[in-house]
Amino acid sequence: MGKKAKPSSKKKPKASKPSSLVDTRVIYCGDNLDQLKKLPDNCVDLIYIDPPFNSNRNYEVFWGETREKRSFEDRHASTQAYIDFMRPRCVELHRVLKKTGSFYYHCDWHASHYVKVMLDQIFGENQFQNEIIWQRTTAGKPIYRNLPKNADSILWFTKSNQYIFTPIMQPLTEDDKATFASDDGDGRGPYNTQPIINPGDRPNLKYTYTDLKGRKWPSPKTGWRFSEERMRQAESENRLVFGQKTIREKYYLSEREAKGKQLSNIWTDIPIVSGEEKLGYPTQKPLALLDRIIKASSNENDIVLDAFCGCGTALVAAENLGRQWIGIDVSPTACKVMAKRLRDVCKMRQDEALWRAGRGFIVRDLPWTKEKLREIPPFEFENWAVYSLGGIPNKTKVGDMGIDGRIFLVSATPKKKEGHLDFMDDWYPIQVKQKDKVGRPDIDAFEAVMMREDRRKGFFVSFGYSADATREIGAFFKRTGKTIIALTVKEILDEQIAMKLA
Ligand SMILES: C[S@@+](CC[C@H](N)C(=O)[O-])C[C@H]1O[C@@H](n2cnc3c(N)ncnc32)[C@H](O)[C@@H]1O
Repeated sequence: MGKKAKPSSKKKPKASKPSSLVDTRVIYCGDNLDQLKKLPDNCVDLIYIDPPFNSNRNYEVFWGETREKRSFEDRHASTQAYIDFMRPRCVELHRVLKKTGSFYYHCDWHASHYVKVMLDQIFGENQFQNEIIWQRTTAGKPIYRNLPKNADSILWFTKSNQYIFTPIMQPLTEDDKATFASDDGDGRGPYNTQPIINPGDRPNLKYTYTDLKGRKWPSPKTGWRFSEERMRQAESENRLVFGQKTIREKYYLSEREAKGKQLSNIWTDIPIVSGEEKLGYPTQKPLALLDRIIKASSNENDIVLDAFCGCGTALVAAENLGRQWIGIDVSPTACKVMAKRLRDVCKMRQDEALWRAGRGFIVRDLPWTKEKLREIPPFEFENWAVYSLGGIPNKTKVGDMGIDGRIFLVSATPKKKEGHLDFMDDWYPIQVKQKDKVGRPDIDAFEAVMMREDRRKGFFVSFGYSADATREIGAFFKRTGKTIIALTVKEILDEQIAMKLA
């Protein structure tokens, strides 16, 4: 493995100019299908997405020091459902991408082959540029009947052939340097050689070369890589090696060290997020990864869009590299977490007036207020509360046996069931009441549910709790060791709490 890549620590470039095409430095809260429809055609330069995978799992989020566990659902039960969900979104993403733009789709072995076919259909097969294999980790539990799956796939498509790209150069390793084994003793130092054969078929480079000693060198099948003039120049500079059958070119260690070598599509030098960078968001991607993609496929001031932006890694990388950015996420909590990250890490101010003046950033369409939540129908309130906790609402609203939703745990030991892993056995119940004060009888009823279902933890959501209800929650814990976490709407809505928990 090479040296570990780090996000650029260089001083941030000058603040980028806002775009006149579209509002930038904005986080939109909402389903990206709706949000993308509001954007004009051909308006962004680079898109990176990292949608929830088709892994039939629920991700667990560790909310900061309290280690309060919440989860958000990876809702796509089948590959077809996942592709059906992603296709209209990718059509919209293709529409908003500029002609010179690039699109990176981060996925893994679960669905990467289906995603590739879908994107071939949307972008055109010829617009597929590469599949980046990102080796996430070298560790892994030993498995006896397979190889550890340690890599993600990042599929790179462009909208046309006129796309922006800057090769990614890396320093030579000691092994690379050791291949420079020849030296003419003329002061140019060690060199290696490579054939001057054309990799493609270039008819105009098919000629017989006559060297300075008058020897004839017939063209290789696909032609030479150099014109006759350039070949002569190289020979007079003593940069050619005449073998038995063909001609090779010398390349010197000193020149290669100055340029570096181009990184391939196999990325093994970026470890998963750890240390200070880690926010506890389960699928947070490393800044170094986004840094690399953004540098390769955009220029300063270009607009970077992440339509599934989680805790905002792409936005932070874009901001640090002097790009404009737009973020979209359906989860209000994710939007709050990334806003805090932009404030803390990028020292940006979240301020409408400042943003209008071309600085700072804003969050749009954060959905709920306490007042609005009091007015909506009970089933909508239930859905809101359950989704806010990262749970899955109960499908049946009548006869729900006292459970409005469930939080599933990823750390649960998976059971093998009909060929796929079933994580569904380890869960916490959620009970929701659209009431100002939940009383003792409501808590008694929920305790009965927890006893019946044999759950060690449960969540209750309402606008408030009577003193009796709070006392009973304490007494229940003492009697049974089971915990009821009583959350208020204010606590869920309150940005301060979300930040404290993030
Ligand atoms: C895998 S996470 C992205 C992590 C991100 N790359 C990072 O480094 O933090 C996927 C995100 O997509 C969001 N999401 C799922 N469905 C969405 C939708 N329809 N519209 C917008 N965001 C969505 C989820 O809320 C989640 O935050």
